[in-house]
Amino acid sequence: MAWACRSYLAHLPCRPLFNPRPQLRRRPPTFCSSPRLSSAAKVLPISDNLLVLGIETSCDDTAAAVVKGNGNILSHVVSSQADLLVKYGGVAPKMAEAAHAEVIDQVVQQALDDANLTEKDLSAVAVTIGPGLSLCLRVGVRKARKIAGSFGKPIIGVHHMEAHTLVTRLVKPDVEFPFVALLISGGHNLLVLAQDLGQYVQLGTTIDDAIGEAYDKVAKWLGLDMKRSGGPAVEELAREGDPQSVKFSTPMKQHKDCNFSFAGLKTQVRLAIEKRKIKADVPVSLATDQDRKSRADIAASFQRVAVLHLEERCQRAIEWSMEMEPSIKHLVVSGGVASNQYVRTQLDQVVSRKNLQLVCPPPHLCTDNGIMVAWTGIEHFRVGRSEPPPPACEPEDVVYDLRPRWPLGEEYLKGRSEARSLRRARIHPSLTSMIQQAMSQEA
Ligand code: KG4
Ligand code: ZN
Repeated sequence: MAWACRSYLAHLPCRPLFNPRPQLRRRPPTFCSSPRLSSAAKVLPISDNLLVLGIETSCDDTAAAVVKGNGNILSHVVSSQADLLVKYGGVAPKMAEAAHAEVIDQVVQQALDDANLTEKDLSAVAVTIGPGLSLCLRVGVRKARKIAGSFGKPIIGVHHMEAHTLVTRLVKPDVEFPFVALLISGGHNLLVLAQDLGQYVQLGTTIDDAIGEAYDKVAKWLGLDMKRSGGPAVEELAREGDPQSVKFSTPMKQHKDCNFSFAGLKTQVRLAIEKRKIKADVPVSLATDQDRKSRADIAASFQRVAVLHLEERCQRAIEWSMEMEPSIKHLVVSGGVASNQYVRTQLDQVVSRKNLQLVCPPPHLCTDNGIMVAWTGIEHFRVGRSEPPPPACEPEDVVYDLRPRWPLGEEYLKGRSEARSLRRARIHPSLTSMIQQAMSQEA
């Protein structure tokens, strides 16, 4: 069997998936060598020997990995900005950009060294181009294009949330389309029906904050150690608490859809903390037994209600998805919050009641990493979706095609949220609409 690796530009004449838009002020063309055709641009047999470097810098982790076409992970390097998170209590874009820029070369080199490879050995370079913080995305994209340009390698622009979803297929290849996916991280809270590679129906999203952000804030207010981000700290303390002790109300009970909201729950938690006079500047490690118990009760009660909100939405999302795709067998749960054991246990019960199977990647693949980017690159590369190598030396003033606000798929009609539709300015066309447009032009 043979397959052709064609350029994305050929698929997407109107809007290439990953295309730098040069500014008017360009350097003379003589500075740049013309794009070369890579070996992968020829017709090649399907091969497990593909070697793809994945680069991830969309938020606060600088990550790179090399993955083989057969799913073997050859290397995996993550440099996290935990100290910045502690200092600023969240991600400060300028600081995060500087931190990425400081370590990106080292992280990528380490990933190549650990895999015993050089850039020449790679089949392609995959990099997250959105959604995320523009300043941070830029660092990874610049590095990826530099390698791809210098060594004549094709490049694949990856959607961060698709990468969180598809990494599940790396660890469990029997997860076939269609399936339902709950993607829960610091910046996103999504329920999607994954119909095919690059084709998603958005069943629900958050109208305000994501659950990971809520975990981080609660951790900060409870005076927890944020070194491994807030989520793990809340999960750990919650084990000591009584989840029924503080009565928080479940968000959006009256909305019979699949959207999420965590802002109100955050406010309820903040008020409960104030009422009990818990001081965030007294670390939990120094708290009295009674104070610690009080914090643990809040952590456990918050977690119970936050996850109950996920459970209710997942149950409905499965019902909606079954109406569209009755052959669904899996609920995939991924993103940083999916590494939480309580989340997994609770969702497992929802899924069992629906006769489906819950699939979560191992914790180190739930949080941001380069493996998921490399693997998503491999999945797209295999069906011919990549771009030819960029020029070997790109002008410094090139404006990259970054997609800070980039939906995965089109909204399902039943799931439309009035509150969110007011905030749709400057959103990029979804990955799904771009791929569908490309396919219809190809047909
Ligand atoms: O996917 P991710 O690494 O980065 C984003 O794309 O946002 O997710 C990070 C988020 C953080 O908010 C972190 O607190 C949360 O995932 N998180 C957890 C756990 N581990 C990470 N939340 C709850 N429980 C955990 N064990
Ligand atoms: Zn993420």
